[in-house]
Amino acid sequence: MGRSGWVPAVAAAMVVLLLLSTASQGRQRERSVKSSEQTFVFNYTLAKTIVEYASAVYMTDLTALYTWTCSRCNDLTQGFEIRCIIVDVQNCLQAFIGVDHNLNAIIVAIRGTQENSVQNWIRDLVWKQVDLNYPNMPGAKVHTGFYSAYNNTILRLVITNAVRKARNLYGDISIIVTGHSMGGAMASFCALDIAISLGSDDVHLMTFGQPRIGNAVFASYFAEIVPNTIRVTHEHDIVPHLPPYFSFLPNLAYHHFPREVWEHDVDGNRTFQVCDDSGEDPDCCRSVFALFLSVPDHLTYMGVDMAADDWSTCRIVMGQSAEQLRSYLTSNSIMSNNPVDVIIVDHSVQIDLTTSS
Ligand SMILES: *[C@@H]1O[C@H](CO)[C@@H](O)[C@H](O)[C@H]1NC(C)=O
Ligand SMILES: *[C@@H]1O[C@H](CO)[C@@H](O)[C@H](O)[C@H]1NC(C)=O
Ligand SMILES: *[C@@H]1O[C@H](CO)[C@@H](O)[C@H](O)[C@H]1NC(C)=O
Repeated sequence: MGRSGWVPAVAAAMVVLLLLSTASQGRQRERSVKSSEQTFVFNYTLAKTIVEYASAVYMTDLTALYTWTCSRCNDLTQGFEIRCIIVDVQNCLQAFIGVDHNLNAIIVAIRGTQENSVQNWIRDLVWKQVDLNYPNMPGAKVHTGFYSAYNNTILRLVITNAVRKARNLYGDISIIVTGHSMGGAMASFCALDIAISLGSDDVHLMTFGQPRIGNAVFASYFAEIVPNTIRVTHEHDIVPHLPPYFSFLPNLAYHHFPREVWEHDVDGNRTFQVCDDSGEDPDCCRSVFALFLSVPDHLTYMGVDMAADDWSTCRIVMGQSAEQLRSYLTSNSIMSNNPVDVIIVDHSVQIDLTTSS
């Protein structure tokens, strides 16, 4: 069957759905009164540092990550003490944990499945939801694929352990979780999980171009448990619009949590617009007409390249066994200033992310 024939059909269906979701906004042109927003300050320097971590986690050369010498590791993140690298080969997931001594914070950066291209990933995205099994969150539903990519793979256990270890070493310093795209979706679940399991209110989440990951009930729990959350969106990036938001289907619909900061040009000046605390501010990226949504805008944030350096990442890693790679990295020939845990698994559990496989 000609797979390529699906692309225009699916793209057309998606545009129709997005048009519906745009048309349903109703209060789109209303200027809401934004009184409480004045207290919220977007720290550009901090965000720029964090976006560099979210970009670095895409690097496929694990040696350069291990020694923190990768081409995306040499600007604001210099001096980062990397402590743990995780690769799930089969599911094509990657993450690292370490300590940023300038920020005095533990950094967790997560990369989602990005095999082949963002276009394929968007095309194959299914919208199925699952009940979240945390206590005291009745009615919270989340995206099955994104949630299981975090909850049902090696990531959850290894990340939580690595964060605990770093805290034993450095005390109760802040934890900053980040990711871009699907990595942002997983970073969100990770921040929630850490906030709950460590009982910490010093967990900060900053994601870039993340999709919606749960329903409105989930979004309101999320805002309560991880209040220090910034969801950066960029110009016409299509991914924050997926899965679509339908205000007329509140129970089925996906709903973003706050707080969006929309990076876009106003009269040629780059601005970072702080959006309202609803999660679905109609004056921020939702004001972009569906037909103008773009994939290229998904691939740069704050001027930083967010594309994978190699779209066939996972196949390259699969060329050698996980064990070979792990022992090579931890061998004496590669120097790191601090002990780094390297966790590479061929497969943890197969995740249910897309319709194709
Ligand atoms: C912004 O964050 C940086 C750390 O990257 C910090 O040094 C600076 O004080 C912060 N600025 C404000 C206004 O909070
Ligand atoms: C999340 O993981 C836990 C334990 O690892 C498991 O019991 C639970 O079923 C998972 N939740 C979902 C929705 O898959
Ligand atoms: C854009 O920047 C120019 C020059 O700095 C300034 O004169 C103008 O007022 C700015 N426009 C807006 C909408 O802020």
